[in-house]
Amino acid sequence: MIRERTLETSRGPIRCLDAGAGWPLLLIHAFPLNADMWRPQLERVPDGWRYIAPDVRGFGSTPAAAADDDEPSMEGYAADVQAVMDALEIETAVVGGLSMGGYIALAANRRSPERLSGLVLADTRSEADTPEGRANRMKMSALVRSEGVSAVADQMIPKLLGSSRDDKTIVGQVRSMIEGNSVDGVDRAIHAMMNRPDSTPDLSRLSLPVLVIVGEEDALTPLADSERLQRRTSRSQLVVLPGAGHLSNIDAPEAFSTALANFLASNL
Ligand code: MLT
Repeated sequence: MIRERTLETSRGPIRCLDAGAGWPLLLIHAFPLNADMWRPQLERVPDGWRYIAPDVRGFGSTPAAAADDDEPSMEGYAADVQAVMDALEIETAVVGGLSMGGYIALAANRRSPERLSGLVLADTRSEADTPEGRANRMKMSALVRSEGVSAVADQMIPKLLGSSRDDKTIVGQVRSMIEGNSVDGVDRAIHAMMNRPDSTPDLSRLSLPVLVIVGEEDALTPLADSERLQRRTSRSQLVVLPGAGHLSNIDAPEAFSTALANFLASNL
């Protein structure tokens, strides 16, 4: 059963989905979705584990700005992850994220490594944006400001899905997650991603167990990005999901959930 609630944290209200009971795994969603993208995993929580998926600030039902955090940044989003853990009285957790969620998980590790017991990095990369990537972010920022979030959905959906790209139900669910977000929340995340630091130097210092997962057909953060992540971390394993695209947890829900469960069972 998936529970839904809004936590009153030290950084304001944060909506979370929550399933299972036991050791905690926090799952941070991709841009520009919300916590509901993790429902396929929340429906398959292994015994002894609890999966918690927050709406990142400005997405879903979590308001866009925290009082003390006017500049959007990965560090601000990572502070929110810690605030969720504090509100739930969780001392340490495995923290996982897909794409932007992975950038946030890496920032959470940089901010408070003592609060993490493992990392899951799905369809993501450690590097900062290239100059070309930043220029594309500026175009997306202008697009969302002028034409709204549905224009972002039109542009992104073909790049997000692999094997389920022709599944009307799944495409509709992804579109409705994107269109449920505010222009402000989406634009703030574009700026936070554009200005994020390079997390690569942190990787060689990581002594945590790390699961790297990627969809074989991921066009946004291709396999080579995950291979570099795996090579640069000492206690890591790489799982490649055949047929899956960027949202590999949605394209291959069972294989993704099994990879998570195997990693948790054998490393934690
Ligand atoms: C995501 O899926 O979170 C985005 O593709 C990340 C990005 O644009 O860098």
